[in-house]
Amino acid sequence: MEPGIYIRVMEETDLPGVVSIERQVFSIPWSPASFLYELLKNPHSELLVADIVQQAEGHLAGYIVWWLITGEAQIGNVAVDPAFQHRGIGRKLVQTVLGRLEGREVESITLDVRESNEPAISLYRSFGFEEVGRRPGYYKKPCETAVLMTKVLLPSEEGGNS
Ligand SMILES: CC(C)(COP(=O)(O)OP(=O)(O)OC[C@H]1O[C@@H](n2cnc3c(N)ncnc32)[C@H](O)[C@@H]1OP(=O)(O)O)[C@@H](O)C(=O)NCCC(=O)NCCS
Repeated sequence: MEPGIYIRVMEETDLPGVVSIERQVFSIPWSPASFLYELLKNPHSELLVADIVQQAEGHLAGYIVWWLITGEAQIGNVAVDPAFQHRGIGRKLVQTVLGRLEGREVESITLDVRESNEPAISLYRSFGFEEVGRRPGYYKKPCETAVLMTKVLLPSEEGGNS
């Protein structure tokens, strides 16, 4: 396989690698059971993983969990292994989700992020996500404000020609 970053649908066998990254980057990580619920039971979710291929060897380097419910998409979780950050993997994961939504009747995509998480906020802004609200004290360990961000995908019908 050519060196590069490859995005694919997560499989159950990816769980240990995903949970390992989750535990490295979040103070309150999702449990393996939470990932399994999203993977196997939740009909509204899709889980994608990123493999980085170097010198013919592939490593699971990141993942994204997103939901699509009644015309609204939400990113629930995204992370990249610290050893592979700053190589465009987070960008490719978000780009892939946005690509999945192209041409579909989806009004918007939302997410929340810690207000101190500059790398993530910068990533989302670069795709056109904008801050739409704040929830003080939403996150724990440490207690922190959540910034709610949205990217509008379909123009609102209000104000349109009729
Ligand atoms: C946020 C995260 C997913 C970004 O993944 P990544 O693979 O390192 O990001 P990329 O290399 O694709 O960078 C994409 C953009 O993100 C932003 N970015 C990434 N790292 C950054 C940093 N340290 N400081 C500022 N901006 C940063 C930049 O806008 C960058 O674009 P640029 O390279 O053109 O400047 C990664 O840092 C991560 O896993 N963090 C821990 C978990 C987390 O916070 N998840 C998000 C929860 S809401």
